[in-house]
Amino acid sequence: MILRLTSMLVGYLLGCFQTAYIIGKLAMKTDIREMGSKNAGTTNAVRVFGWKFGFLTFLGDISKAVAAVLVMSALYQDPKAGLYAGLGVVLGHNWPVFLKFKGGKGIASTVGALLALDYRIGLGAILFMILVVAVTRYVSLASILMALSIPAAFAWLGHDREVVAVGVAFAALAIYRHRENIARLLQGRENKLGKKKEGKP
Ligand code: G3P
Repeated sequence: MILRLTSMLVGYLLGCFQTAYIIGKLAMKTDIREMGSKNAGTTNAVRVFGWKFGFLTFLGDISKAVAAVLVMSALYQDPKAGLYAGLGVVLGHNWPVFLKFKGGKGIASTVGALLALDYRIGLGAILFMILVVAVTRYVSLASILMALSIPAAFAWLGHDREVVAVGVAFAALAIYRHRENIARLLQGRENKLGKKKEGKP
């Protein structure tokens, strides 16, 4: 229990390192949480700062999750520590204590955690998302579908029940954070990648 809680706490603190927010403040002197969809994440960074800073955001958010999973697994010599550190990163990214709990939607962090936990699932998640975005141009739809498939992917590749249960938690967090996107998708009002819609979600 201590291993799980400590790992989640360390992951949470790493997750609070908000790449899109930091890039926005340093490079653009602005708060990304007041622009575009108001989300501190890769898609909105691409939307309001362009592809270069969007890609940097993606790398930063993936890296913090990879680092948390690998470091905690190594420290405890137990992959379960990495599992909970990954979950903690997503929680910290979504609700960062240093930014009044207003963060992102945790998709790049989730993908980073998946890459470090089981690279087959992480790579599959990235390829799947690229495919869905290429066909639909909805990043949110790609994020939602990818997240929903995580528990099944863990189960299919033989991970134990606890890993599958944490997979359900990854999926639930993503769905919860995308509830406004889901409403817009259902109403046909969701933003497509490449279309600028300043100031509006
Ligand atoms: O990863 C976030 C993405 O799925 C949606 O972002 O800014 O369009 O709400 P956004």
